[in-house]
Amino acid sequence: MAATAQAQPNIALIKYWGKRDTTLNLPATGSLSITLDTLWTRTRVEFDKSLRHDELRLNGAEDPATLARVSACLDLLRHRAGSTTCARVDTRNNFPTAAGLASSASGFAALVVAADAALGLALDRRTLSVLARRGSGSAARSLFGGFASMAAGQREDGEDAFAEPLLDAAEWPLAVLIAVTSHSRKSVGSGAGMESSRHTSPFYPAWVSSAATDLAAARDAVRARDFAALAEVSEHNCLKMHAVMQASRPPLVYWSGATVDCLQRIRALREREGVEAFFTVDAGAQVKAVCPPGAVSRVAAALADIPGVERVLTSGLGEGARLVDDGEAV
Ligand code: DP6
Repeated sequence: MAATAQAQPNIALIKYWGKRDTTLNLPATGSLSITLDTLWTRTRVEFDKSLRHDELRLNGAEDPATLARVSACLDLLRHRAGSTTCARVDTRNNFPTAAGLASSASGFAALVVAADAALGLALDRRTLSVLARRGSGSAARSLFGGFASMAAGQREDGEDAFAEPLLDAAEWPLAVLIAVTSHSRKSVGSGAGMESSRHTSPFYPAWVSSAATDLAAARDAVRARDFAALAEVSEHNCLKMHAVMQASRPPLVYWSGATVDCLQRIRALREREGVEAFFTVDAGAQVKAVCPPGAVSRVAAALADIPGVERVLTSGLGEGARLVDDGEAV
């Protein structure tokens, strides 16, 4: 009745920002992401008949704020297993939580993989991706390594809104650098921010109606391993999402001054210095630069030089969520 899983965060190059249904957590748009390797979440789930309610510890401390979301996700798996047994969930991140590094993505991906094994369900990846999506939309993609794309789907029951693998990490081994410009928790979480944009941003309809074109272009670029094409559509999609955010009421401005400086520096590296690199930014102040492994030292040095950049994390692309030895865990 216990199992431990590891999942890594993923970085969306084509963003999910907006829901078509909040109950089933259905995305309004498809998305495309890369899964990291050096940053991870490890989660041990143990179902225990002596418990009267679910328990959650994050990095060793109780986390009552997230417990309801975790319990709701576990309920979906318990329902499939015909079980009502409560669980003890112990989870650890080796990176800062809630600072735009998508800890909910790796968190819910690890949770469903561990709970599936602990309950002996042996569900397939697609089903696990659907269940992870119910916890957090971006988590559906961390079930897969390398490059994954996520369909918005059309069905009302959401069974066609899952992620699928596009390329393995080894098939196009890009690197990701994360310029950490702030360690503070973001003021408005993704879920609430998306709902605000959906209801108040005048740019939201254009965002949704142009998403499929961006996704198709990015999928083609990934399949062709065309770095320049992927850079162009990724930066466009990222800035378009931030335009939607910033035009929301009240405005959602996730950037710090250093965020903007990083964007300008990465563009200069590519356009003036011939370094293959592009940026993306999520609902936080951190900037992620994507580049071939050979460009990592140039890009890392350029980002580290920018005032306000506290540190630069580097990662390759990694595997999807998977079980690990219980002892290895948390
Ligand atoms: C900006 O997956 O955190 O990182 O489904 O409400 O949990 P919920 O949202 P979440 O949103 C991620 C938003 C994003 C873009 C992306 O990862 O696609």
